[in-house]
Amino acid sequence: NEIYLNGLGDVLPGLPTDLTRLERLARKRLSPGAHGYVAGSAGTGATARANREAFDRWRIVPRMLRDVTVRDLSVEVLGASLPAPVLLGPVGVLSIVHPDGELAVARAASALNVPMVLSSAASYTIEEVAEAGGEGPRWFQLYWPKDPEIAASFLGRAKAAGYTALVVTLDTPMLGWRPHDLDQAYLPFLRGIGVANYFSDPAFLKGIGGSVGADRSTALLHWAAIFGNPAVTWDDLGFLREHWDGPIVLKGIQHTDDARRAVDAGIDGVIVSNHGGRQVDGAVGALDMLPEVVAAVGERTTVLFDSGIRSGADVVKALALGARAVLVGRPYAYGLGLAGEAGVRHVLRCLMAELDLTMALSGITRPADLTPEFLRGP
Ligand code: FNR
Repeated sequence: NEIYLNGLGDVLPGLPTDLTRLERLARKRLSPGAHGYVAGSAGTGATARANREAFDRWRIVPRMLRDVTVRDLSVEVLGASLPAPVLLGPVGVLSIVHPDGELAVARAASALNVPMVLSSAASYTIEEVAEAGGEGPRWFQLYWPKDPEIAASFLGRAKAAGYTALVVTLDTPMLGWRPHDLDQAYLPFLRGIGVANYFSDPAFLKGIGGSVGADRSTALLHWAAIFGNPAVTWDDLGFLREHWDGPIVLKGIQHTDDARRAVDAGIDGVIVSNHGGRQVDGAVGALDMLPEVVAAVGERTTVLFDSGIRSGADVVKALALGARAVLVGRPYAYGLGLAGEAGVRHVLRCLMAELDLTMALSGITRPADLTPEFLRGP
């Protein structure tokens, strides 16, 4: 409505309302380094393509004459009510695309009451982002580091700063083979853009003699040494519970056996995700695994989804296949790069408005009413 009304006064939205066009605009306007960091994926890009192809294989079958005047997009996720089944997924190193980075994302998310999942690898600290987000809902994402003291310290800081849920990313015990970043020799990291949480952490600093110092190279090498922990196994999940008393969600689940193990271990939710195709090249499209995971654990836990969401219709498809809510990654990073906080708000509002319209036009008034019956697929 706002867009139509503004249009009457000859005011256009400014940014594309089709998020795939927004992506193309970002390619033109962002620096090649910043664009490449966000757009990049593992290897030949086969997994990122598979993510989109998986969405294309499912089609919505709209239903008619069902009184869709009153609609309610809200959903309950892990005990909290969200205005829509959409969250901002964890995206690290965001000041590479805009100087305000995660602070701008937190403000945009908070204005719409949409949860932001803050990355461990953020360019602003856990505390700075919490302050920027004010009363808005926030979750914290952990890259499980080698040093358990740092992990415990991160969780303590996140708890103290009002992050309510913990997302533990399992698919990144080390960074994938990302040609774009490799070709740039991981310059953003070497410049220390995504290390704010580490360089401000007492447990991390202890490992480098108490301070980062003027020459940051020792600190950066230490960061690279502790960033991921390839040794963790299912037996280590107890550590998370010991240090986090709120809901815990495992991100990067794709196989039903892993989903079952997570639920058996008392985990509160899983995110079916392949990291937007940035970890394993040649992997299955994330949406292709969603129905199986939902069939395996959907009745026992909260199943969330990400990897490839680009439109409200995509959200409809993921929900119809059993996701309680979805996370978006690249689209809001592009919005941030193009227009800062306003760009992130634009992306979220487009996604939510298109979701609302697609549901209404398909004969649906509440996310909970979306079932596989509304889709035709492979
Ligand atoms: C990510 N992702 C990610 N995930 C995570 O758990 N911690 C992180 O720090 C990051 N960082 C990150 C940076 C960039 C630039 C991208 C594009 C992605 C993965 C992210 O949370 C999510 O899984 C994907 O982005 C979802 O796919 P789409 O929406 O980008 O297709």
